[in-house]
Amino acid sequence: MAFPENFINELVERSDIVDVVSGYVRLGKRSGSNLFGLCPFHSEKTPSFSVSPDKQIYHCFGCGKGGGVINFIMEIENLSFPEAVEFLARRAGMPIPEQTDDRESRRRARMLALNRDAARFFYSQLSTPAGRAARDYMAGRRIGSATATNFGLGAAPDSWDSLLRAMEAKGYTGQELFEAGLARRGKNGGFYDSFRNRLMFPVIDVRGNVIGFSGRILEDGEPKYMNSPETPVFSKSRNLFALNLAKKSKSGYIILSEGNIDVVSLHQAGFDSAVASLGTSLTPEQARLISRYTDQIIIAYDNDGAGQKASQRAIGILEKLDVRVKVLRMSGAKDPDEFIKRKGADAFRNLLDASENQVDYRLRNVTDKYDLNVDEQKVDFLKEATELVARLPGAVERQVYSMRVASMAGVAADVVSGEVERKRKRLLSRAQRSDQREQSRPERQLQPAEKGLRYEDPCSAAAEEGLIRLLYLDPALSRETELPEPEEFSSQALGRIYSAIRARIDRGEEVSAAVLGGELSLNEMSLLVGILQKPELLSRGGRALRDYIKRIRERKELAAGETDLRELASRLRERKGYEG
Ligand code: UTP
Ligand code: MN
Repeated sequence: MAFPENFINELVERSDIVDVVSGYVRLGKRSGSNLFGLCPFHSEKTPSFSVSPDKQIYHCFGCGKGGGVINFIMEIENLSFPEAVEFLARRAGMPIPEQTDDRESRRRARMLALNRDAARFFYSQLSTPAGRAARDYMAGRRIGSATATNFGLGAAPDSWDSLLRAMEAKGYTGQELFEAGLARRGKNGGFYDSFRNRLMFPVIDVRGNVIGFSGRILEDGEPKYMNSPETPVFSKSRNLFALNLAKKSKSGYIILSEGNIDVVSLHQAGFDSAVASLGTSLTPEQARLISRYTDQIIIAYDNDGAGQKASQRAIGILEKLDVRVKVLRMSGAKDPDEFIKRKGADAFRNLLDASENQVDYRLRNVTDKYDLNVDEQKVDFLKEATELVARLPGAVERQVYSMRVASMAGVAADVVSGEVERKRKRLLSRAQRSDQREQSRPERQLQPAEKGLRYEDPCSAAAEEGLIRLLYLDPALSRETELPEPEEFSSQALGRIYSAIRARIDRGEEVSAAVLGGELSLNEMSLLVGILQKPELLSRGGRALRDYIKRIRERKELAAGETDLRELASRLRERKGYEG
């Protein structure tokens, strides 16, 4: 581990998990010794995110995420372990000791340096003959040079190795460019530039790091954009284009648009709070990230069917957060870039001022579908509109919109609000039922809640979990009997957790969520914390330990036997083919 252990322990002591989590999650209900709130890592209506002040861990019974206070910061701030430690140290006012050898964070730092140098290279190409095509393209789209500088736009020359050669001259290897997504590997084993003949948009995170690139083709053709792949420093779903600039805006809102070009155009026209998701539809992580910088979001997506659908989805994600959401309605242009070019910045400012709140927007979408002069359609309209209003969280809000719907359809207001409240009750009880069902599904209790992980042998895995739980809670038990090797575990993930715990016990070191957080991945920590939630009787720990070990070995023998039988059967089949 990179940091001295006593430093980590003191840091964790000075970073009470309830305090830290409260900065992000409203912790209310207490149940036993745990505090509960709405999980910040998945969307939910009833709280299943628990924080234990005693154990100093968090665990979500819904999505399975869990860990210690450092893991929480890693997860929610999208930081590596050492970065999260630094973050908490700053918060607690503790000086950070020299890091000795952290290969992972060195690798990230090196990749960020490479990205920054690559961005500088692309930018410098704009003023050379090799950057001519990109320069012409920018001129054609009326992107000025001040804007190019503001965004750090650049040109990838039409060549197979100009970036590669420039970066090699600075001491980077082809392999490093490859890992950063800047180079590809050719058939002959050599490397070549990923981005060629493109207008380059660096993606810069809120801390100012160049984390990736988006490159637009200069003529018509597919695909229009090429983006950096996921790397140790770049995650598309957790970042937004231009948030580094928009977060400094004084406008009081953030404009969410679809395209990089829209964002550049908007900033150039003075709307300095525009951002775009990176070619994906808005993700919950991106929504959370934006909501840290503003409490009002104006959606300005493309003016087509896809844009409408994307708006609806974005509303669905944003309304779960504590932000006001408005939707901008545009006509006469397909996107903000075109609108500004055709009608000017003032006209766009008018659109912003006139943008509807999300309820009005959705209500209008419903209204547009029906002809309210036709009785039958009026009935269908009322059905759909009351459904929408019933889903609004505030009682006053429901009342106001019920009256609006009533006057649109020309019926009595209390008829509509009665219908809305009936629907609301039905919705609430349905949500409760499905929550209960979700919690009590038997396979859910056998399988880990963490997504992407399934136990092949749930029976052995349960014993493996038990063994881990016992050793974590009472390391002295390790002296009771001879322990199995990690390789004997049926689940590799559990094997890794077990081996980390055992190594610490063997070295006579402390076992805690804080120190394990530096050795295990976030998923492994979530799994571990989930395991610790299940009950265990320590009073008969020695006996339980032996039972678990026995079960793991029995299951392993059984599995080996099955493999033997399968092999035998296939040998027999082969021989039969041979003889007959
Ligand atoms: P658009 O096609 O609307 O691009 O895609 P744009 O940036 O507005 O460019 P123009 O104005 O049409 O020339 C919207 C966003 O979707 C992502 C990019 O982030 C783009 O900005 N995208 C699009 C991709 O990642 N790959 C693609 O092939 C196309
Ligand atoms: Mn576009």
